Amino acid sequence: MIIGVPKEIKNNENRVALTPAGAKELVKRGHSVFVQHTAGEGSGFTDDQYTEAGAAILPSIEEVYAIAEMIMKVKEPIEPEYKLIKENQLLFTYFHFASYEPLTKAMIENKSICLAYETVEKADRSLPLLVPMSEVAGRMAIQKGANYLEKPLGGRGILLGGVPGVLPAKVIILGGGIVGTQAAWMAAGLGADVTIMDVSLQRMRYLSDVMPANVKTMMSNEFNIREMIKDADLIVGAVLIPGAKAPHLITRDMLTDMKKGAVLVDVAVDQGGCIETCKPTTHENPTYVIDDVVHYCVANMPGAVPYTSTLALTNATLPYAIQLADKGWKKAAQENPELVPGLNVIHGDIVYKAVAEAFGLAYVPVAKYLAD
Ligand SMILES: NC(=O)c1ccc[n+]([C@@H]2O[C@H](COP(=O)([O-])OP(=O)(O)OC[C@H]3O[C@@H](n4cnc5c(N)ncnc54)[C@H](O)[C@@H]3O)[C@@H](O)[C@H]2O)c1
Repeated sequence: MIIGVPKEIKNNENRVALTPAGAKELVKRGHSVFVQHTAGEGSGFTDDQYTEAGAAILPSIEEVYAIAEMIMKVKEPIEPEYKLIKENQLLFTYFHFASYEPLTKAMIENKSICLAYETVEKADRSLPLLVPMSEVAGRMAIQKGANYLEKPLGGRGILLGGVPGVLPAKVIILGGGIVGTQAAWMAAGLGADVTIMDVSLQRMRYLSDVMPANVKTMMSNEFNIREMIKDADLIVGAVLIPGAKAPHLITRDMLTDMKKGAVLVDVAVDQGGCIETCKPTTHENPTYVIDDVVHYCVANMPGAVPYTSTLALTNATLPYAIQLADKGWKKAAQENPELVPGLNVIHGDIVYKAVAEAFGLAYVPVAKYLAD
C-alpha cells in the first residue's frame, strides 16, 4: 500500500503520525511510505532519519495527499486539507467528528474512508488509541501542578515532596482512571501526600492494591470533596463519564474554602471540565487566577511534549496501521473487530451512530460495507 504522512498544519501541533521506526516496519513489509518534508521536525525526527528508514520525502502536502492510498495523521483534517482528500482514500487519524459538523460534512462529500483513532475499541470497551494521550496528560498534570505551586508562578510556594522535617504537599486527584492513576504515580514518586477520589469502589480497591503507601483512596461525593479541598495544595481533575459532559465536582462557591495559592489542574477540560470555574486555555497562556486559586486548564496538554506524545501514540497506532496496510481497510476490519467501531464515515455514509445522531444525519450500519 502507498502510505502518506503529511505535516500537521493545525496551530501548535508538533506531533507526527509515524516515526522513522514505524516507517521502517511498513517498508519492511513491502509498503511505500511518503513523508512530507519536515513532518517529523516538531517531534525531533529529521527527513534523513525517514529516508534511512526507507521512506521517501515529498516537498508538499499536496503531493502527499495525491499519491497516498492511506493517509496517517494525528489531528483531524482542517479546512485547507478538505480539498486534498480523494475518493476511496483511507484516513487514519483522530477526527472527533461529533464536535464539528463542517468536518463531518466535508468527509461525507469527498467519499473517503475515515477510521478514527478515538473510536477504535477493544472487547473490554477500552479505547487503546486514547489511552496513550491520557497517560501523557496524567503524568504532565503533576509536573505542571508542581511548577505552578512555586511562588513566582502564582502558587503558594510549597514543594510537592516537602523535605525532611517539613510535611509534603497534599494532592487530591478527582477520578482514578488512566489520567488519575498516572498522576497519582507521579505525585507519589515525588513524595506528596496523595488522595484519589472516585465513585467506583472496584477501581479504588484496585488502586489501593497497587499504589504506594502515600496514596490513599476516598469515595467521591460532595461532602467528602468539600472537606478535602480545604487542605489541598494541588487538585487534579481527571473525571470522565463516557459520552457526557464532566460533572462539576468543584463549584465556584467552593473556591473560597481553598488555600490561597492552591493549584487546580483540570485535565478533563476537554469534556467541559470537572471544576466549574475552568475554561480551556492554551500552552501560550495556560493559567488564570480566580479567588486566589491558580487554574491550569490546557485542553491539549500532550501537545507540549511532542517527542513523548508522538512515540506514545505511534506505539499504539502502528500495529493497526500495519494491519490496514497489509490487508486493506475492509479485510483488516473483518478480521479485527477492534477496528470496526473506528470506522466513522465510508464513501459518503456515516457508519458511526453517535456521529449521525449528533447532527441529525442519516446513519448506515457499518455491516453494509463489511459483508463480502
Ligand atoms: N487536557 C488534555 O490534554 C487531556 C488529555 C487526555 C485526556 N483528557 C481527559 O481527561 C479525562 C479523564 O480521562 P481518562 O482517560 O482518565 O478517563 P477514564 O475513563 O480512564 O477515567 C475516568 C474516571 O473518572 C471516574 N469518575 C466518574 N465520575 C466520577 C465522580 N463523580 N467523581 C470521581 N470520579 C469519577 C471514573 O470512575 C473513572 O475511574 C477525560 O475527560 C479525557 O478526555 C484530557
